[in-house]
Amino acid sequence: MNENDRVDEATVGQFYDSLWSSGLSTAALAHGADDVGQECLLTPREIGVFAQRAGIAAGTQVLDIGSGRGGPACYLARQLGCRVVGIDISTVGHAQAIARARDEGLGHLVEFRLGGIHAVELPHGAFDVVLGLDAWCHIPRRGELLKRCAAWLRPGGRLAFYDHVELRPMPAEQRQRFCTIWRFAGLETPRSYVAAVGAAGLRLLSSEETSAYTARFYTRILEGYQEHRAEFEAARGPERYREGLERLKMTRKLAVTGVLGQLACIAENPGRA
Ligand SMILES: C[S@@+](CC[C@H](N)C(=O)[O-])C[C@H]1O[C@@H](n2cnc3c(N)ncnc32)[C@H](O)[C@@H]1O
Repeated sequence: MNENDRVDEATVGQFYDSLWSSGLSTAALAHGADDVGQECLLTPREIGVFAQRAGIAAGTQVLDIGSGRGGPACYLARQLGCRVVGIDISTVGHAQAIARARDEGLGHLVEFRLGGIHAVELPHGAFDVVLGLDAWCHIPRRGELLKRCAAWLRPGGRLAFYDHVELRPMPAEQRQRFCTIWRFAGLETPRSYVAAVGAAGLRLLSSEETSAYTARFYTRILEGYQEHRAEFEAARGPERYREGLERLKMTRKLAVTGVLGQLACIAENPGRA
């Protein structure tokens, strides 16, 4: 991965804090009736199918890294009866996640912790599934992250993530600009991601390019953002509205031209139980 040294974990937290502090979410516009508070590109059904493929069921202990506003964690706990620990670096996202769990009466199944994943201490071998939904592109030192995920999994436990990937190489300057406007630590390619998973000692069970979701999401989000311009301008100010518009236009273009895509991976900790 080409690391973007202009982005550190704290910068990412502030980025999401400022996006979410007004209570508005552009992702909610893209998801419409399918909004369950998820900021990833997936519908609730797609999240549920993926979770089940990863082995999540009642009682499964899940670690959700980059849990955002808590939508997917609460959805999975409600639908499947799993237990989820969600970690996120955004103070605002964390507070909204706690409020969501409380409002949905899920406090006995979900727990949210505030912090950067590289700084948290978690017990080794404690999780059946480590989950990531379009969050890890923000996290620096991805090889180290994957090794830590492997250590947090019990033997036979599974890593399951969706993430943004670079399908066709962007010029270095464009990649730098793209990663900086999204506060991405850097983009993997499908091949470099799969290699990093293997290098972390995990056995790949499946990897699938799901780039159609990228084009779908960024097309809808851009339409919604323009439709709701007045609301976003009132909440964020015209300057920040314009910044957001440029970010979404660039991203949609990269997605529909097949440069930016998404990868879904499931891998297993091969250690003996
Ligand atoms: C696009 S959102 C996805 C949130 C969530 N997975 C979902 O689908 O709703 C990315 C999230 O990753 C979190 N994040 C980014 N870097 C992080 C880090 N180093 N440690 C923990 N969370 C991080 C952000 O704060 C943000 O909430």
